[in-house]
Amino acid sequence: MTPIPLSLYIHFPWCVQKCPYCDFNSHKQPDIIPEDRYIQALLRDLEQVLPSIWGRRLHTVFIGGGTPSLLSAEGLNQLIKGLQQRLPMRPSMEFTLEANPGTFEQDKFSGFYQAGVNRLSIGIQSFADQQLQKLKRVHSADEALKAIAIAKKAGFSNFNLDLMFGLSGQSIEEALGDLQQAIDCQPPHLSWYQLTIEPNTLFYNQPPSLPNHDLLADMHEQGSALLAKHGYQQYEVSAFAQPKQTSQHNKNYWQFGDYIGIGAGAHGKITQQQTISRTMRVKHPEQYMQACLSGQPDKAIATQTELAKDTLPFEFMLNALRLKEGFQPSLYTERTFLSLSSLEQGLEKADEKQLIIHNNENISLSSHGWNFLDEAVECFL
Ligand SMILES: C[S@@+](CC[C@H](N)C(=O)[O-])C[C@H]1O[C@@H](n2cnc3c(N)ncnc32)[C@H](O)[C@@H]1O
Ligand code: SF4
Repeated sequence: MTPIPLSLYIHFPWCVQKCPYCDFNSHKQPDIIPEDRYIQALLRDLEQVLPSIWGRRLHTVFIGGGTPSLLSAEGLNQLIKGLQQRLPMRPSMEFTLEANPGTFEQDKFSGFYQAGVNRLSIGIQSFADQQLQKLKRVHSADEALKAIAIAKKAGFSNFNLDLMFGLSGQSIEEALGDLQQAIDCQPPHLSWYQLTIEPNTLFYNQPPSLPNHDLLADMHEQGSALLAKHGYQQYEVSAFAQPKQTSQHNKNYWQFGDYIGIGAGAHGKITQQQTISRTMRVKHPEQYMQACLSGQPDKAIATQTELAKDTLPFEFMLNALRLKEGFQPSLYTERTFLSLSSLEQGLEKADEKQLIIHNNENISLSSHGWNFLDEAVECFL
């Protein structure tokens, strides 16, 4: 049996300001970000995880947020050195940092690369200044283009651009224009998200006027075709990549791999002796740091839950069906330790609705199922 890949996710919880659509665990930065304290807290937190992953090698690292590019290059260097002292890290391993394209961040891209990050995920969102203002982003379209050029110059041949569509008052032409501009920058990977209105966001209480359902469907269809024409293969609901440029870190989530999750509000999933546990860290940055730095890092763990066996078919499918290629049946057994018979009932339900294609070699959504992902996953509840 192949070992379950193990990734590391590190959450950085501060941003210049809170965007009105964002429900991630991100907080407006204090006057001075307590960078040193936060890095020390992360390393203490990591230490408490080590006994649960002894002997396992790391597959990928992802520092996300929030806006981790607010870290100084020196701070990041110190963090990476701390990781290397505690975990065996291969220089060739995918190591991603989420970066915002503001001027303050761009100046540090070269330092991030020197520190050992080899993939940047840049949050562009749109190349239209008017849209960026409506989204209350702190960067302009010009700065976005500059950030991409600087990232390339710094050595990042591997990078992702985050783009959103279905923005307030957006026409198809505007959405496709944004995509075309992104494509012209030749990113190896593009994440193209439909803007969703999430509870607990400013947009939820003051909703912008969004394109209607038909317009959104047309945007998605034409946008996907444009991406395909330029060699970007859709391999997940919102992820497009040039050949062999898929995100190894995100793929590990979707293939129900393991991941350590450290940092305020971070989620983790670890398998030990066929028992799968999920963890979540306390969300509040100050509370998180206090717990880790006062010698009681276990207090930084808000929840730790063993996944019950009867929930595993749903949990696995919730992730794996997002992948366009689907998965080999053996992966299900390797990751859940359940026999394939535990999927039978769900597959029968999905068959009735023609949502899934399955044979001895592969299980994936049908083209019809691709439009009804939630319904397909619910067959396994
Ligand atoms: C962790 S978030 C933010 C990363 C980075 N701080 C930024 O804003 O550029 C990752 C991506 O999720 C997407 N995203 C966040 N909120 C969203 C929403 N409500 N609807 C659709 N996409 C969203 C954005 O494209 C964002 O870049
Ligand atoms: S979208 Fe990005 S920059 Fe905006 S609040 Fe969320 S994490 Fe921060």
